[in-house]
Amino acid sequence: MPEQLNIAVFASGKGSNFRAILDAITRKHIRNAHVVLVISNNSDAGALVIARENNIPTAHISRKQFASDEEFNNALLSTLTVYNVNFIVLAGYMKRIDPCIIRSYRNRIVNIHPALLPEFGGEGMYGMHVHEAVIARKATHSGATVHIVDEEYDHGPIVLQRLVPIADGETPATLAAKVLEIEHELYPEAIRLFAEGKANVDGQHVTITK
Ligand code: GAR
Repeated sequence: MPEQLNIAVFASGKGSNFRAILDAITRKHIRNAHVVLVISNNSDAGALVIARENNIPTAHISRKQFASDEEFNNALLSTLTVYNVNFIVLAGYMKRIDPCIIRSYRNRIVNIHPALLPEFGGEGMYGMHVHEAVIARKATHSGATVHIVDEEYDHGPIVLQRLVPIADGETPATLAAKVLEIEHELYPEAIRLFAEGKANVDGQHVTITK
């Protein structure tokens, strides 16, 4: 059995992906993994409420609380160390992860993006902006992507991707809802693969074993 995943979830918003992951752990769809900590830059994040309801430790850590990037990143890293975190799940976390954290958790940070990367990613492409861009491009499909986080925005090796067809008259809001539903299946599935040691990162590729 691979090492147990001690997961820190980073979330800025309502936390529906976090909830889906937690449900999958409770249902034992994901074994060998626990969420040991939820970190948010936003003290009002729904994700923090969900964590408290489930007796999961929370930390509100925001750049604004610190005089420098270095102090901010040191606070993040030391909190992760205190909780013995060995895997980080970004679930609607709207801030950039500093390279020093990426180096400390190389190939151990995953993110979910609400489109089919490498299209519709990069700086400024988050939340509803993504769906607006997809509709404006008159794309026939969108989807969700789980990927490893590296030093470039929305760039690291892709773990799993799933397509969502775009219907006639689709709006950014209806598309967002459809993609989010897919995210709630895709993200727990990706985490299960890591927990079972079935997802291995090799350079720019992730190899999945059955
Ligand atoms: C999700 O759609 C996620 O893909 C997106 O924010 C939403 C968070 O929802 N993330 C990004 O855009 C990151 N670039 P949630 O808080 O309900 O999980």
